[in-house]
Amino acid sequence: MDDLYYGDYIELDTLLNSQHPRSFDRMEDGNDEMLFIIIHQAYELWFKQMIFELDRVRGIFMGGNINDNAGEMGAAAHKLKRIVKILELVNQQVSVLETMTALDFLEFRNYLLPASGFQSKQFRLIEAKLGLKMEERHKREYYKHTRRGSLSEADMLEVTRAEGEPTLKGLVIAWLERMPFFDERYWAEYVSSSRASADKFWSDYREAYRESLSAGEGGRYAEFEKVLFTEGRGDLTPKALQAALFITLYRELPIFQYPFELLNTLSEIDELLSNWRYRHFSMVRRMIGIRAGTGGTSGAGYLEGTLSQHYAFREVTELATFLIERSKLPELPGALKDKVSFQV
Ligand code: HEM
Repeated sequence: MDDLYYGDYIELDTLLNSQHPRSFDRMEDGNDEMLFIIIHQAYELWFKQMIFELDRVRGIFMGGNINDNAGEMGAAAHKLKRIVKILELVNQQVSVLETMTALDFLEFRNYLLPASGFQSKQFRLIEAKLGLKMEERHKREYYKHTRRGSLSEADMLEVTRAEGEPTLKGLVIAWLERMPFFDERYWAEYVSSSRASADKFWSDYREAYRESLSAGEGGRYAEFEKVLFTEGRGDLTPKALQAALFITLYRELPIFQYPFELLNTLSEIDELLSNWRYRHFSMVRRMIGIRAGTGGTSGAGYLEGTLSQHYAFREVTELATFLIERSKLPELPGALKDKVSFQV
């Protein structure tokens, strides 16, 4: 009689007794508030899983000693891919809620005030753990306070704490900066087509990049110099950007397979999150037009701003600006191809 029972294992009673539409008391047949609650709950469950995976990936990077060839690096890439799949799924869920019309929503909207998805602690935790910084936020004056419609003090504390912990972005930058493949020992036999210099490879790459630019792109070269060799971009130092570009250029080398997958997946996560922001923003405009949100922001206008601004890995994605054709890539020295180990 002590066999585990399905409903007990997943605590189904708790789950299924957690929907309490506030407007149902006065309605005979109910309305779409049930759908509204269930959709939000489904999102929060998936947010929970995403945070769980993000923490595991951060744990892998924090453990140090990442072997990029396999093991941890493969595991990190795999967990991030799972986040991608979850995001693809939750993006589709928007259309389920869109079966509710603006008039249907008005039947119960006032019952929600001043609650809003803006108060989703888990959503903020995902943003913080990925590495989106407070100062990079659109309308950041909306965030760091606990007045009506904002996060509770306890939730705010938790989000602030997460912002102070190592973020996935910070950890990836540190990992990129530790990449050893520009050590001189790997480059002794490199045959440079230009004059030898400490960074022969990059002087060749510079030439090839300059030649690849069309007449109208003159300013691009100066930007390339600035971003990759002097100032970096955003949080990424020139060293981290060079490593990321190098991985992207030579991703066909077996040793770069997982590192490339990882970088590519970070861009994918950014893209899918922005797809979600767009779908949510469009839905909001259909539901409430340009009215203010229940959480007290300007509503659709605010959400449109987050769409163009809230990216954690923009610098990684925009590295595509500095790529050249495969056929023009400098040939790498054998020592680098054969011996480089990313045991750091
Ligand atoms: C009828 C459907 C919905 C409407 C009209 C709506 C409206 C809004 C509005 C106006 C905001 C801006 C904050 C405010 O002033 O309230 C907002 C933010 C937000 N909503 Fe929704 N929402 C809807 C559905 C959802 C769903 C299903 C989710 C899933 C969890 C969600 C999650 C969020 C999140 C996370 C934010 C914060 C976004 C950010 O600050 O970047 N919303 N929502």
